[in-house]
Amino acid sequence: MAASRQATTVHDTSTHPTSNKIIVVAIDVGTAYSGYAFSYRSRPQEVIVNNWKSHANDGFSHKAPSSILLNETYNFVAFGYEAEEEFSKIVQNRNKDKFFFVKDFKTQLANDQGLERHLLVQDILKRFVPAHGLFMESIRFLRKHFLETLNKKGFEYEEDDIHYILTIPAIWSDVAKQIMRDSACMAGIKPNNLELAFEPEVAALHCRSIPSENLSGSTKRLEEMFKPGIKFAVLDLGGGTADMTIEQNTLDGKLKHVHKATGGLWGGNKVNQAFLKFISEVISGDILESFVKENLTDFFFLNGQFETKKRSIGKYTTEEIVIQLPASLLEIFMEKTSKTLAQTVKGSIYNKDIDVQRGRLAISAEKFRSFFTRTIQGIVNHVKMILNKPECKDVRYILMVGGFSESPLVEDEMRSNFPDKKIINPVDAGLSVLKGAVLYGFNTETVTARASPLTYGISLYDSFNEKKHDFSKTVTVGDERIVLGCFEKFFTINELVEVGTKRSISVYESYEGKSDAMRMMSKEIEIFSSHEENPKYVTEESCSRHGRIIVSPPNGRWPDKVRGKIEFEFGGTELMVRYIDKATQYVVTGSVDFHQGDNQFDLLRSSVQKQ
Ligand SMILES: Nc1ncnc2c1ncn2[C@@H]1O[C@H](COP(=O)(O)OP(=O)(O)OP(=O)(O)O)[C@@H](O)[C@H]1O
Ligand SMILES: [Mg+2]
Repeated sequence: MAASRQATTVHDTSTHPTSNKIIVVAIDVGTAYSGYAFSYRSRPQEVIVNNWKSHANDGFSHKAPSSILLNETYNFVAFGYEAEEEFSKIVQNRNKDKFFFVKDFKTQLANDQGLERHLLVQDILKRFVPAHGLFMESIRFLRKHFLETLNKKGFEYEEDDIHYILTIPAIWSDVAKQIMRDSACMAGIKPNNLELAFEPEVAALHCRSIPSENLSGSTKRLEEMFKPGIKFAVLDLGGGTADMTIEQNTLDGKLKHVHKATGGLWGGNKVNQAFLKFISEVISGDILESFVKENLTDFFFLNGQFETKKRSIGKYTTEEIVIQLPASLLEIFMEKTSKTLAQTVKGSIYNKDIDVQRGRLAISAEKFRSFFTRTIQGIVNHVKMILNKPECKDVRYILMVGGFSESPLVEDEMRSNFPDKKIINPVDAGLSVLKGAVLYGFNTETVTARASPLTYGISLYDSFNEKKHDFSKTVTVGDERIVLGCFEKFFTINELVEVGTKRSISVYESYEGKSDAMRMMSKEIEIFSSHEENPKYVTEESCSRHGRIIVSPPNGRWPDKVRGKIEFEFGGTELMVRYIDKATQYVVTGSVDFHQGDNQFDLLRSSVQKQ
């Protein structure tokens, strides 16, 4: 197929998908906690966040644990606090072999680029469970719960009155976004009623909407930070990821996301893991494992206490942190070692850090802080690295959102590591993603531009020109020497792209004299990405196959002359790639396949020719 570069750039924000929606609901399936929030078009600022009844503290909480209970055929039974409660009962009734309890599936499925396709995850008792469907079930549950809430309120609606926003870390890859989109659609949400939103970005929108009379202390700075032209970092610290974007206020009161999102796996749950690792060193891994297997309710209780204590420690805390140890843990320890845990600890290397007396574990503040060290160091190093880049030197504000940013220790460490930055920690940091996502749903145009996370392009072939091309990339076809795999760029990494920007190239192919079999074959258009600004060939190390669209011939057969257009659209939260057949206006978008596995590809077949 021949191609001519048109260098056409078009901005199209005319069709606004949410313009006729009466309700926006935001769904957040987090690593640690999940929830939903919604509001009505008549009063968009009045965001209602669902309240979950929590058995753990006998009260209510705005987010439920991301826990799923499945039956023996892996079908959904319960989610959140209900799943925890049900499973505790099941364990007490010694019926646990018939059920699976999966607590941290997002951690198991995510890497720092987002989700990977995995076949299996482990449940809390280390039994394997199919991973496929866990996101879908979580979204399905949250959606059903939301629709029931609307019904209870007596609100009459049609499905198309609702716009769904699914929040995702901004650092996630296109594959991860597609897995989430597919999961939401399988959970019953129509593709046209669904939009993905970046967590740090929408959290900033929420903070911008806080009325100035509600600001005090460090949050008073929010007013300064949202002044036109100011650049600020948003650091979303969740259970699984630390996700950072750099935003800039536009002159007309909107936001631009001016640096590609960055971050890594430095979430608050790493602290819980460090604590459990320490416990397993003190009492031995085998004893901890037996305790979890035999006394799961007590294990939940131990985790619950750690979660509470984790929220109180700061940089300057000196008092010991006391955790009540479950009697069952002490008994198992005695059974297995014939010693009390108190005696064992006294005679061990741990005795300067911890003390066990009358079933209470006292941990020195210093030791307790050490559970946070690696995670906080990861966050601090990363923020330093990004803010030291020349293009980020003028960022003077750091807005901290997400549950983990509520930790006094995290906040203290951020303040002491960034003395020249203004650190802002809004009151409901943990809910700012959910609340902001609802506001975003009513007005997605409040974010006007985003930095491209990668360089995107397609593979072209060209006639060999020794001044331009590398001989090693050439092949001979007939009596012509051609260069394969030239990277034809559409968007450059970190380029600021206005929402709705479309760039296209025209392609042309002649089928005259070609066989019927060739005329009926689908075309594959391979999409490539790179971490470099100007890759030359798609085979360079920095490049990878990013996805492809498969275009079947319009009306089953390619005509003599095929004229089409390959169009990339970026600036929204998802990259869109389309093939448009000029004669029939037939458009292929839906089948952009970002998770093509290991299928073979042929550079010649998947390259288009540059004219
Ligand atoms: N006050 C607090 N002090 C310390 N840690 C806290 C506090 N509140 C919440 N956390 C921690 O924050 C994490 C949960 O934050 P959040 O709800 O934003 O994450 P998530 O959305 O589940 O995760 P992610 O966004 O990474 O998928 C947990 O590790 C929790 O222990
Ligand atoms: Mg989150």
